[in-house]
Amino acid sequence: MNQEGLSMLKILANDGIDQIAADCLSQQGHSIYTDNFDQEMLKEKIGNYDVIIVRSATTLDASMIDAATADGANLKLIIRAGVGLDNIDVEYAQSKGIGVRNTPNSSSTSVAELALGHMFNLARHIHMANVTMRQGQWNKKHYNGIQLYGRTLGIIGFGRIGQEIASKASALGMKVLYYVRSGKKEGFDDFTFADLDTLLSESDFITLHTPSSSDNRPIIDKNALTKIKKGAYLINTARGNLVDYDALLEALEEGRLGGAGLDVFDVEPPINPKLMNHPKISMTPHIGASTEEAQRGIGAEVCAVITDFFEK
Ligand code: 3PG
Repeated sequence: MNQEGLSMLKILANDGIDQIAADCLSQQGHSIYTDNFDQEMLKEKIGNYDVIIVRSATTLDASMIDAATADGANLKLIIRAGVGLDNIDVEYAQSKGIGVRNTPNSSSTSVAELALGHMFNLARHIHMANVTMRQGQWNKKHYNGIQLYGRTLGIIGFGRIGQEIASKASALGMKVLYYVRSGKKEGFDDFTFADLDTLLSESDFITLHTPSSSDNRPIIDKNALTKIKKGAYLINTARGNLVDYDALLEALEEGRLGGAGLDVFDVEPPINPKLMNHPKISMTPHIGASTEEAQRGIGAEVCAVITDFFEK
């Protein structure tokens, strides 16, 4: 038992953890392990721990949960150090008596800033200007851009991150439309609720901030891409399966879509060479929550979640 009266726990942070959480948990007398087991090895080891903490790189599917609940296994709690739970079979874990928690409060600003970063990239061709200058080119005339000021941003999904980007975009002088399945939200009168078709047809920039749908069907599919304003830009820092990337490439080729800013992909890392080399795509390797501030906040949330879970 530690000072808080909790049993000492063995905690595996399979995708790493901020020092804040590591320090806080060790101060409580728990043992933190930061081995990074691959999926196969993890199946053998997971039952040795009371708690596993993961980011999006580790998948905890039904077969992993079975391993974690086999005879003699100890696992009691899964923590997703981040927001999206789509790499975890939450329902199955809970049906087997394992608690599942995420840490949704700390990364909104970082994700919203990255989405804005991609918008600036696309508006001013920063991603390509950077690449071509490194190749010795000086394409001053080639990179005529647009301003964000005065343009319309359409936000699909209006939770913490959607709201955060709405106020930042508004401060930049953008008009903000938002769509969320449940309808207009109270208390956001500075922004305009729009149905999905209106948002697609009126926005210069469209940004996604919604979880994957339960059947994993993309919200931006071939049909949606026929409805967008010609030359609009699409930003996806949410989940790869929200977009049909083949249809996106087609829309880029046809000039219906002006460009795309992508931090998440249907397959990670992405393998489609057309996607990887397209000059109208600004891309980052799923780094929306990868800032000092977000990871520090997530670390503090992780520590609080563990204390709360085991106290109860
Ligand atoms: C999330 O769901 O929190 C983000 O997509 C970040 O994922 P990561 O923790 O794997 O970077």
